Amino acid sequence: MKSFTMLFLFSFTKFFTLFDHSLGDDIKFCPRTFTTNDVCANISCGNLALFHWSARSMPHDCVCTAVGSNQSLCTCQIRC
Ligand SMILES: *[C@@H]1O[C@H](CO)[C@@H](O)[C@H](O)[C@H]1NC(C)=O
Ligand SMILES: *[C@@H]1O[C@H](CO)[C@@H](O)[C@H](O)[C@H]1NC(C)=O
Repeated sequence: MKSFTMLFLFSFTKFFTLFDHSLGDDIKFCPRTFTTNDVCANISCGNLALFHWSARSMPHDCVCTAVGSNQSLCTCQIRC
């Protein structure tokens, strides 16, 4: 499972690199947030972001912040 995640993240990164080269500076990213009902240690904001927004929004650079004792806030960069 863990190696799958790594492979997934790796191919996702390559996917972005491809876009960066073909579209140059045309893509602008804005920070967006969503909350989850689990602690940061139990989740991957990056993977959840793909479900929360579509892959088209290209969520990346996610940061998880604890909210209370059993919730967390994911902040990601997505296409504006
Ligand atoms: C996080 O995962 C641990 C271990 O699986 C679990 O015991 C705990 O309840 C989880 N936390 C939340 C808030 O679901
Ligand atoms: C968080 O945990 C508290 C205490 O266990 C519980 O009352 C509350 O419903 C939980 N909130 C969420 C969003 O899971």
